[in-house]
Amino acid sequence: MRIDIVTIFPDYFGQVSADGQAGGAGPLGVSLIGKAAARGDIGFRVHDLRAWTTDVHHTVDDTPFGGGPGMVMKPDVWGAALDDVLAAAPVSSTPPRLVVPTPSGVPFTQEMAALYAGERHLVFACGRYEGIDSRVVADAKTRMAVDEVSIGDYVLAGGEAAVVVIVEAVCRLLPGVLGNEQSHSDDSFGGTGSAMSGLLEGPVYTRPRAWREHEVPDVLLSGNHRAIARWQRDEALRRTAVNRPDLIRRLAAAPDGLDKRDRQVLADAGFPVDAENMAH
Ligand code: 6GU
Repeated sequence: MRIDIVTIFPDYFGQVSADGQAGGAGPLGVSLIGKAAARGDIGFRVHDLRAWTTDVHHTVDDTPFGGGPGMVMKPDVWGAALDDVLAAAPVSSTPPRLVVPTPSGVPFTQEMAALYAGERHLVFACGRYEGIDSRVVADAKTRMAVDEVSIGDYVLAGGEAAVVVIVEAVCRLLPGVLGNEQSHSDDSFGGTGSAMSGLLEGPVYTRPRAWREHEVPDVLLSGNHRAIARWQRDEALRRTAVNRPDLIRRLAAAPDGLDKRDRQVLADAGFPVDAENMAH
């Protein structure tokens, strides 16, 4: 997979060589993603947006039309940058997907991470200040798939941290990156059809069996795989009900989301799931 990142802070992504290749120190150079990049399974290119400015001050922003606070990133600079990054892309029949991190975007989800993991080429456009002139996305949409994506309901100073989040969620799904392919299907949110689909992951334990007066639940030592699976689902249901009641409501509304036992577990935990309680 090829990943281009355009930003006014290339340093944010760590060591970047003269041709833009990221590696070594920095968030893209460590752990599983760093190893995948070293193997050549992922090729990162980080580009300094200011390289496409044409004035002596390397200006990337200007005051907003209509007034208001802050500054808006200039369309001409972004347009030139994206044109060049697209032109330098490896020849392919399908153009890359452009991802623009912004707090006004659609919420980034595990489903989108899986979709992105199937792409050959992703381009990230990191905005700063009050965002990028809206015509940049409108123009890009005439040529390629474009997503404006938010990573949560809070405001960051720029898209760079969101890019690291999205890239990590995507890259760990690439074949061979995680090592243990099974690990995906048990993740919180799971894959569609996995045992944990739509639920948060329950608690996990390792040795020693007893630690500071806390014991590992007996069922996990029983060797009874059916009982273990059921207990893990019960725990996942209870944790999800407490931390993410919205996910329980979504499951309750789905045709095969919750079975009778699930509903009993939730009722016992003080989260009754029936028509009257599903108002929102
Ligand atoms: Cl993707 N960007 C910025 N700047 N802030 C955010 C965000 C993205 N997602 C949530 N807050």
